[in-house]
Amino acid sequence: MIDHITISRIHDAAQIVDVVSDFVTLKKRGVNFVGLCPFHDDRTPSFYVSPTKNICKCFTCSDKAMSPVHFMMKHEQLSYPEALKYLAKKYHIEVVEKELTGEEKQRQSNRDSMFIINEYARDYFVNTLHNTQEGKAIGLSYFKERGYGENILKKFQLGYCLDDWEAFTKEATSKGYNTDFLVALGLSKRREKDNSLFDFFKGRVMFPIHSLSGKVVGFGGRTLKKDDKIGKYFNSPESEIYSKSDELYGIYFAKSTIVKRDKSYLVEGYTDVISMHQAGIENVVASSGTALTHGQIRKLHRFSKNITMIYDGDSAGIKAALRGIDLFLEDGMNVKVVMLPEGEDPDSFAKKQNAEDFNRYIEENEVDFIRFKTQHLLQETGNDPIKRAGLILDIVQSIAKIPNIIHRSVYIQECAQLLNVRENVLIAEVNKIRLRNFDKKPVDRNGEQSESITSPDGQTEPATEKPNTETTSKNPFEPYERAIIRYIVRYGNQPIYKKFEKLTPLSEEEILIEVGPKVIDFVAHDMEHDGYTFSIPLYHKIFEEAKQHAIDDTFDTSTYFLTHPDIEVSTLATEMLNDRYELSKVHAKQLGETYGDEKSRLLEQNKLQVLVPRATTEFKNVHVLQDIKELKAKMKTASPDENLNLIAELKKKQELKKELAKYLGERIVLRY
Ligand code: CTP
Ligand code: MN
Repeated sequence: MIDHITISRIHDAAQIVDVVSDFVTLKKRGVNFVGLCPFHDDRTPSFYVSPTKNICKCFTCSDKAMSPVHFMMKHEQLSYPEALKYLAKKYHIEVVEKELTGEEKQRQSNRDSMFIINEYARDYFVNTLHNTQEGKAIGLSYFKERGYGENILKKFQLGYCLDDWEAFTKEATSKGYNTDFLVALGLSKRREKDNSLFDFFKGRVMFPIHSLSGKVVGFGGRTLKKDDKIGKYFNSPESEIYSKSDELYGIYFAKSTIVKRDKSYLVEGYTDVISMHQAGIENVVASSGTALTHGQIRKLHRFSKNITMIYDGDSAGIKAALRGIDLFLEDGMNVKVVMLPEGEDPDSFAKKQNAEDFNRYIEENEVDFIRFKTQHLLQETGNDPIKRAGLILDIVQSIAKIPNIIHRSVYIQECAQLLNVRENVLIAEVNKIRLRNFDKKPVDRNGEQSESITSPDGQTEPATEKPNTETTSKNPFEPYERAIIRYIVRYGNQPIYKKFEKLTPLSEEEILIEVGPKVIDFVAHDMEHDGYTFSIPLYHKIFEEAKQHAIDDTFDTSTYFLTHPDIEVSTLATEMLNDRYELSKVHAKQLGETYGDEKSRLLEQNKLQVLVPRATTEFKNVHVLQDIKELKAKMKTASPDENLNLIAELKKKQELKKELAKYLGERIVLRY
């Protein structure tokens, strides 16, 4: 486990703009930065990054503010310690770890270990390529023949796996790497007859596959044998760290150029990406021969909405392009297609051109999807009117996928011209399809419907709302407990009031004459006095820990909980420290209706003396009301003897209720 001090160092060092910018293109807007949200299908920037608060937040898909650590966890699907280590590395902070129990170690380190093993394997293969006889003679000369220079080999960390059944596996196990992980990562395989291990990538050149943040999630290995019947490429299997359908080969090396040029190129293979880099074109990624997924498209969309697919001019290439188009359209991307000259693929074509010529070729030959479909499908249909109608329908179906109405109408115009059909016929057809699709699957992604779709009876569909799935909200005491915990997290170690007085009636200067109890001490005393405590375990934990540290005057609850080793605590603290006021309207009114800004934070801090007792009183009040209800219910079935006791208790509770009511005045129960 990473110790508390290290965690707070990491929190202090990690700059939210810096961290988010590694993954999202941000633009300055006022004091904040905005960008396309990486967590949903965002078309208008709704992802806000606040450098001053050091948090980010999407206003469409999530109501929770995220610290740099939380952002990393969510974005890269990291565990809490993984995210902390990632940031520690980024900011050169030494990580001090506490000894873990065996069980904790096991649980936490699976993914860590797998990344470490992949890194080890990558280095091993790179070393084999450059520093062994066989590596140089076979692997390196193969790459050289393909025209790859030293820089490109280094950049893409290309390697070689010896043509030996167990060279790698032996070396890795002798270094102590866990065989189960080697197998899970697909680097080693078990023989069926005796369970012994062998090298999966035997005799292949190795292409590491990098995640968006540059970690090696898997490998592709290409055979060098012409007659290899098993397969030209072997790829790592799906594992805890590799999901093939989510990765795009080359994205790590392409992302900054994609942003700069506001455009990406999509090709099919590893070697296409690498040869294009070699030629000086860096905004390129590969789908690695598989069908595209929305997950991959979203990764690209984040950096630019313009995509040009580059395919071989053969029929397989055309089919692949046609399949990809609709997916990009659905995602609201601006998709173009370019076909290379007969017999060329991006790899071979890049070798004959420099970047400038290649880019010019693309600019001159890329066409939008309608032209592309028309050109290629018209060849097949000839003059057959029924086939022609089929082609029009095909294109109309693609247009119907485009979420934005203006973009749709532009394409409808173009289609009408190209195919010589009347525009309003196309419009009617597109609308019909959209309605049908809409009935089938109501829009599930928030914010998608910038223009609403009207159903036949003229009703506008409301945007679907995420139901509140938080289990804690079922507990009737939750909002009251939360309000108190919020004060503890934000101000726990601060005095509930400070009293100043002027030295003399006329003097300007004021001196401190009295300091109230700390918020945490006040709450502890007040709650325990009436025998109530927190029912929600997470809140109870925070309360107890704050109490424990209350005697320490240097103790700061905000930092302590924000940097807590328990991620649940840290997440809650982030929310409470950063989110808008969760106060009721009544509270906000008392604070002069400056709802949610810095000014009201200060106001709040100055009114702790009113606010904190109010929160604890309200909490006690709901308990008392509940107790009274329960007592009354019990009395209905109790024996006369028992009833005497119950009556006494009821009386006590009713007195307390009166007392609390007096304190709370008219606003007895606040509605949250
Ligand atoms: N691919 C794969 N498994 C195969 C064949 C292909 O995973 N058996 C993927 C690889 O990512 C490959 C891409 O599909 O890069 C495109 O395949 P192909 O065009 O056949 O390979 P190239 O990348 O062109 O490789 P090379 O030029 O070395 O033949
Ligand atoms: Mn090729």
